[in-house]
Amino acid sequence: MKAPHSLIVGGTRGIGREVTCCLAAKGHQVSILARRLPGNTVKRLPRSRYWSVDLTDAALLAKTFMEIVEKRGKINNLIFLQRYRGDSDAWQGEMDTSLTATKNLVELAADRFAPGEKSIVIISSINASLIVPYLPVGYHAAKAALCQMVRYWAVLLGPRGIRVNSVSPGTVLKEESKAYFLDNPKLSALYCRMTPLGRIGRASEVAEVVAFLCGAQSSFVTGQDIVVDGGLSLQWQESLVREMLRVPNEGAAKAKKRNKS
Ligand SMILES: NC(=O)c1ccc[n+]([C@@H]2O[C@H](COP(=O)([O-])OP(=O)(O)OC[C@H]3O[C@@H](n4cnc5c(N)ncnc54)[C@H](OP(=O)(O)O)[C@@H]3O)[C@@H](O)[C@H]2O)c1
Repeated sequence: MKAPHSLIVGGTRGIGREVTCCLAAKGHQVSILARRLPGNTVKRLPRSRYWSVDLTDAALLAKTFMEIVEKRGKINNLIFLQRYRGDSDAWQGEMDTSLTATKNLVELAADRFAPGEKSIVIISSINASLIVPYLPVGYHAAKAALCQMVRYWAVLLGPRGIRVNSVSPGTVLKEESKAYFLDNPKLSALYCRMTPLGRIGRASEVAEVVAFLCGAQSSFVTGQDIVVDGGLSLQWQESLVREMLRVPNEGAAKAKKRNKS
């Protein structure tokens, strides 16, 4: 059977590198888009090829995509992991990198899916619904918009057999961020205490969910967002504060008092 062809946008670093490695290990033919060359881990993967492109250059993106299809064949999976990290206007950067580039590529690719499993996976974030004040408003707006674009395309592309889903990670450990958490053991310990699963997730765990959404195991799943945060975002913030301060809630405090008297 022919290896599935997966095009991974932003597959060179961070969570994207884990997705690339994970799909390559599962036998996919992997094509990767990013501006800068990947490191050796990605370069040495079998059946992987890298194309340098700035996603915000629509003409170059279209040309590169057509070249990939011509050289490596139509795609089975299209995965988006890019985010804006530049120094120019954060709002515009986020809109161009996260939204316009994704829209351009999905529209271009929709007619170029190969027979077999056809899946689009977009990495959103818990910031599609929850607010982190030190991240820009554009990041929050873009992630929320991506989730709605997923639902829109799930309806529009469903008749062609293309499934469209998103994955929303919380904070996860990546090669690039490991040192920060090791250098801040108090913070790491608190994150672990707050998370129902009792630890910080790993980028490879996000990658496995992406792989699931690309495979036949999820063949009737479309238009969904899967949160990968160990259950952290399920909890009511006030109860978390009480838990952190070890202050019992009013009812429990009264009951304790009654039991004592
Ligand atoms: N890290 C987390 O804990 C976390 C949590 C929730 C959600 N997420 C989401 O998960 C995804 C991956 O996050 P990450 O932290 O792993 O990201 P990252 O390390 O910043 O990697 C982003 C990838 O996208 C590429 N990219 C960015 N701008 C590009 C452009 N204009 N043209 C072409 N390629 C571009 C980068 O390569 P070049 O720079 O070489 O172009 C890189 O390969 C993002 O969508 C992020 O919002 C991450």
